[in-house]
Amino acid sequence: MDVYLDNAATTFPKPLIVPEKIYDYIVNNGGTSGRGSYEKAMLADGLVYQTRKRLAKLFHHEDPKTVIFTSSVTESLNLTLQGILKPGDHVVTSALEHNAVWRCLKTLERDRGIRITVVPANVQGETMIDDVAAAIQPETRLLVFTHASNVLGTIQPIGAIGQLARDKGILFLVDAAQTAGVLPIDVQAQCIDLLAFTGHKSLLGPMGTGGLVVNCDVVIHPLISGGTGGDSAYEYQPDYYPNHLEAGTMNVSGIIGLGAALEFLEAEGLENIRHKEDALMDYALNALKVIPGIELYGPQDSAKTVGVIPFNLKGHVPEEIAFFLDQNCQVMIRAGLHCAPSAHRLIGTVERGTCRIGIGYFNEIAHIDALIAGLHAFIKENN
Ligand SMILES: Cc1ncc(COP(=O)(O)O)c(C=O)c1O
Repeated sequence: MDVYLDNAATTFPKPLIVPEKIYDYIVNNGGTSGRGSYEKAMLADGLVYQTRKRLAKLFHHEDPKTVIFTSSVTESLNLTLQGILKPGDHVVTSALEHNAVWRCLKTLERDRGIRITVVPANVQGETMIDDVAAAIQPETRLLVFTHASNVLGTIQPIGAIGQLARDKGILFLVDAAQTAGVLPIDVQAQCIDLLAFTGHKSLLGPMGTGGLVVNCDVVIHPLISGGTGGDSAYEYQPDYYPNHLEAGTMNVSGIIGLGAALEFLEAEGLENIRHKEDALMDYALNALKVIPGIELYGPQDSAKTVGVIPFNLKGHVPEEIAFFLDQNCQVMIRAGLHCAPSAHRLIGTVERGTCRIGIGYFNEIAHIDALIAGLHAFIKENN
């Protein structure tokens, strides 16, 4: 039995309806969206719009036209940060950011003269709202926070941070890579101005899909310019959405796949999904806690995290453990630094890294049992 426990990187498997709808589109339609006026192109256009509508509904956003498709959350974050920030702007961010935010901010600090303040977090990866408030300066233009850490799993107090940003008239950008599709997100209630998401993690869609919900009227300069299928004689990128931020032929097959995944999520219900993942987390945490030599990081509490469990075994490097599990037990987990070095600094694993279990909706108790058996076998063979 193959046991896939790397769902924080990308979810696997996908609901069957995802490849089925992609196959159907590629084999039976194949038309581009927003360009042709023949029936099949109009049909493809309609399917893309359906996906925008489903995303708007999921995130409680009123206007599907301001749901922008990108190739990934990385692109969405770059598009937003590069498209908004000006020299002298001050940005407040968390100590848990993925390099998709952090490297982009550091590059803008070096090349555009923005300033960055990192809000401290405790060893569990928890950020205190008072620390966020204390980091705000008169020049603060934007708060950018991950919704949940991909290293520790810790969920951040997004609603409270959003309210603070709204009260102070500061833009609020959220990286929902680890939470979209498993935690409720409400851009209205949580005062989220800009929501960056990826399609291939808990939204259960294909790689190459992602997007940005623009829930404010800030001017975002496009990252790329090009064809939009309309107003072709106009020499600049149109200023209306979604065309303003969508240039070039779209990933129609991927977007249709994402739409199918959203249909699946709606039928299953976010609450049921979260409930199942929480139960698996609790089961895994209880079993892991008693493994000899285990070092567990993060809150170790399913209510405070998404389905991520970081751990080490005393005296062993994480890659050695992951390699053993893969080669001997067909159990796939992640090992190393998970593209977020500052989160590793919090728990003292920036040199060594960690093993990381990423639990997904299609995991079962038997998968956790296989992992635990694999860890016991590793210890027996290597101690
Ligand atoms: C919190 C967070 N942000 C951003 C990303 C980048 O995602 P992608 O590679 O899909 O753009 C990830 C992926 O692991 C993540 O966990």
